Amino acid sequence: MAQLWGGRFTKETDKLVYNFNASISFDRKFYEQDIRGSKAHVAMLARQGILTEEEKEKITEGLDGILADVKEGKLAITSEYEDIHSFVEANLIDRIGDAGKKLHTGRSRNDQVALDMKLYVRDEIDAIDAEVKALLEALLKIMEENVHTYMPGFTHLQKAQPVTLAHHVGAYFEMFRRDRGRLQDIRKRMNTCPLGAGALAGTTYPLDREYTAELLGFDEATRNSMDSVSDRDYVIELLSALSTIMMHLSRFSEEIILWNSNEYRFVEIDDAYSTGSSIMPQKKNPDIAELVRGKTGRVYGALVSILTTMKGIPLAYNKDMQEDKELTFDAIDTVKGCLALFGGMVSTMQFRKENMEASAKNGFTNATDAADYLVNHGVPFRDAHGIVGQLVLKCIDQGISLDELPLEEYKALCPAFEADIYDAISMKTCVEKRNTLGAPGPKVMEQVIAQCRDYLER
Ligand code: ARG
Repeated sequence: MAQLWGGRFTKETDKLVYNFNASISFDRKFYEQDIRGSKAHVAMLARQGILTEEEKEKITEGLDGILADVKEGKLAITSEYEDIHSFVEANLIDRIGDAGKKLHTGRSRNDQVALDMKLYVRDEIDAIDAEVKALLEALLKIMEENVHTYMPGFTHLQKAQPVTLAHHVGAYFEMFRRDRGRLQDIRKRMNTCPLGAGALAGTTYPLDREYTAELLGFDEATRNSMDSVSDRDYVIELLSALSTIMMHLSRFSEEIILWNSNEYRFVEIDDAYSTGSSIMPQKKNPDIAELVRGKTGRVYGALVSILTTMKGIPLAYNKDMQEDKELTFDAIDTVKGCLALFGGMVSTMQFRKENMEASAKNGFTNATDAADYLVNHGVPFRDAHGIVGQLVLKCIDQGISLDELPLEEYKALCPAFEADIYDAISMKTCVEKRNTLGAPGPKVMEQVIAQCRDYLER
């Protein structure tokens, strides 16, 4: 048991207490950030004359050595240390002797862990943002290839009006684009450096907090030391943004599961992204989409968990906050994994365009357009709506689509119908005439796609 305290204690910590308290099993994940923070701290201490240049050199070299050895697997982070901070400090002292004992001058583990967590979250925001961007690339490719792929658009999971695959996928493009915006907002807001806040009330050493903030790539130093050590807002914001990403992935997964079913047959998930059944030889299951949908609950869980942990914590640091790590790490890893797998699945998926178009055709998705035809011939919309409703009923009786209903039947209900009704309600007209901004019409869709391309290249 290697810990950084003990002077005022007369007994060894109970083994169970030690284990309950220890965080090394998970905070080992940010050894790199811990060392990065320590190097900045030491550089500042030397600049302020609190450490000598020689001490700084020795400590920095020692820290670099620890970092390299851990990375190369030569030095294991084991549970004999209480936390990652103790691990680094103890190893430093082993390596360089007394100079290592000066590393923690003017610092507390409270501002240290606040810094480590921020550095870690900031790094991960960048990594997640890159994954979301890669997914957007995959979606945009599908959009570019499917401006003329007709499919039914749904409301209430009932066929409503025809759209295109580009348009449908474009809806997800917008969602994930907002997700990136959220990540960037959080990154900007959280980018203040807590190092130098000490345990809670700063320190009497003449630290230069602006300098460490700058060395570590922060926009500025935090302004209140009590808030600095007890702020986990950015963790909550991140988990909220991650929950939203998962919600989007889950909705899309749900659609892919439906589309991949025998009833829809809109897509065929690639063999590499499907699994079989141990008993039913015919099965090819969309497990990846189901798992992504399933893992959403676990990320929401992390958000609710940290919100609940934080709600009763008096200022400033309290040990409860150690609970922020495991669930945040798990949520980050889950989201990164889901984004990568989901991207692979959608970019290898085959779209069964003929089935999509056939489905759009036989679901009366052109009924609104038939009503609009009448409106264009002077019939008030409410009357047109009623007339086309009756036409749909006739078609259902005969088991045919509106395109197949003879002109006499149209005319029998309303003389305003002429032979050009068939053209007016063809799938091509229904989709291609919808050219208001944001609609599926190929003309406007292509403009939107060009904007999306611009955005990704920016
Ligand atoms: N493992 C602790 C955490 O994650 C580090 C901070 C410890 N500070 C303390 N005063 N015990 O929050």
